[in-house]
Amino acid sequence: MSENRKQKRRARKRGGIVLLLVLVAALVVVVYLLFSGTFSGGDGDGAPERDGGGSVRDAAAGDDDGGGDGDAYGGAEGGDDGITSLWYYDAANADRYKAYSVRMPHLPMDDIVWMVEANLDKEPYVDVEEVLSPYSVTLLANKYFYFSESYVPPELVAVGNSMLRADAADAMREMIDDAAAEGHNLWVQSGYRSFDLQNRLYTGYSAADGVEVADTYSARPGYSEHQSGLSVDFNTITQAFGETPEGIWAAENAWKYGFILRYTEENSHITLYMSEPWHFRFIGREAAAEMHTLGFPPYEEYWVKNVKFVRNVTASAGGDGDRPAVG
Ligand code: DAL
Ligand code: ZN
Repeated sequence: MSENRKQKRRARKRGGIVLLLVLVAALVVVVYLLFSGTFSGGDGDGAPERDGGGSVRDAAAGDDDGGGDGDAYGGAEGGDDGITSLWYYDAANADRYKAYSVRMPHLPMDDIVWMVEANLDKEPYVDVEEVLSPYSVTLLANKYFYFSESYVPPELVAVGNSMLRADAADAMREMIDDAAAEGHNLWVQSGYRSFDLQNRLYTGYSAADGVEVADTYSARPGYSEHQSGLSVDFNTITQAFGETPEGIWAAENAWKYGFILRYTEENSHITLYMSEPWHFRFIGREAAAEMHTLGFPPYEEYWVKNVKFVRNVTASAGGDGDRPAVG
């Protein structure tokens, strides 16, 4: 073979090897791309792709861009002007919001709005309003909303030596039975109290302790939720009750039966009562479950945002509180 032909053969051989290497490299690249998911459209688990930054939540909360206080309900839309989009905003009270925010400059505006809607900007016991929807289990009575002297709730029935509204009484019996099944002895010390009985109690307490102190633990006549037949005092009316197995069980489980702890350390700046670990209020199972989900905000806040106003619906005050057909 001539030297010339030998060189040509070697060149063809080298070209073949280079081609082979190129093909192997291309194959490697294709296999890599296939397995890295570039062409597969996903990671093979059938789940929607996320960007790792909580985009699902962010998208769902697209109308909640801050300006609030990070409470369970989320805040108003950016800045003071955003309050007009709150479902519990009432243009008729715009001046009250402004005035209350001047008195309470540390509070975010969305708090100002629900607080004014709960009449917390008013003078307790002085600038007061009659209870809205007094036959609804989600009614609100406090130092700003009162029952008339003649108000008596419908369908009072006995639970032990006390009386409660029928729906509250049924739930209470179930709660007491379930507590007993777990070895806890819960009993109703006080349920429904008439205007007259509350008057006698408050008069006695204020004579003994003075008005200022009595006001921290006893409602004045007309201002007690006991007059609704929806409130219960358990066992011993003492702070120590909260530390007993019964008190702890009740605090943890009452919501499942439609009851909430009404006066706590955390909400005493709203209720203006000291913590009462023995005092529970029936609001119905659905509302109590929502309160549980929300982390038990003050009932005043829940009432404004879910009872007086209904989210995304223009509702008149106390729309759920028509007098029942029976009772
Ligand atoms: N102890 C509660 C506040 C009442 O008297 O109704
Ligand atoms: Zn009570």
